[in-house]
Amino acid sequence: MNGPSPIPALEMEDVRKVYVVAGEEVVALDHVELTVGSDEIVALVGPSGSGKTTLCSIAGGILSPTEGRVVIGGRDISGYSSRELTEFRRDSVGFVFQTVNLIPFLTARENLLVVDEIGPRDRKQARKRADQLLEELGLEERAGNLPSQLSGGEKQRVAIGRSLMNEPALVLFDEPTSSLDTELGDQMIRLIREEMKSRGTAAIIVTHDDRITRHADRTVRITDGRVSV
Ligand SMILES: Nc1ncnc2c1ncn2[C@@H]1O[C@H](COP(=O)(O)OP(=O)(O)O)[C@@H](O)[C@H]1O
Ligand SMILES: [Mg+2]
Repeated sequence: MNGPSPIPALEMEDVRKVYVVAGEEVVALDHVELTVGSDEIVALVGPSGSGKTTLCSIAGGILSPTEGRVVIGGRDISGYSSRELTEFRRDSVGFVFQTVNLIPFLTARENLLVVDEIGPRDRKQARKRADQLLEELGLEERAGNLPSQLSGGEKQRVAIGRSLMNEPALVLFDEPTSSLDTELGDQMIRLIREEMKSRGTAAIIVTHDDRITRHADRTVRITDGRVSV
């Protein structure tokens, strides 16, 4: 190989996550080792309760691990305070949740722009980026619609657009197609793949869906908080 290899999008080293509920410990992740390449798409598959959402939350700096090291795009976030994590998330990662989470009283376009209101970017530049993303996602005609005036697939596309506003190194998709029918789910996955590959952005896609694993570069399995490749 020529030159230095690109920095991985994600490195998790010996990560453990223990939740304490009413004095009882729940080990959600145990000795997780996971590296995601700079432009790699990884499907994360496992039964309900196996730790998928916890893994995504830690990989995106929403949660801190109980033990272990988390490095995103070469930045070690293991010791970050919650304030540093908030800033880091805003600048460096994207999330698309199963439940989409669009703000109901804002239009599609405003839902993209809201990412920027808490960020430092120039308003004009942000509007340009939002419009460009809406166009790429085939939503230019829907830019002024409220979420209630969008179909399930369109809402998911708005959520993808929103996750890409900050030009993240890594986007985390937690069961992005589970509320869509087969055909829409398939379209969504192709769209996700296209959007990630054209930007060289890495992604983890949590899924139960075999169709998604086919579109991923690699499938990682998780059972009882343990990852096996
Ligand atoms: N906030 C929480 N507090 C306590 N236990 C939790 C919390 N979130 C998840 N868990 C537990 O951790 C385990 C993994 O959960 P989760 O990461 O949501 O799995 P998955 O997304 O694969 O369904 C489960 O046993 C779940 O009950
Ligand atoms: Mg989950």
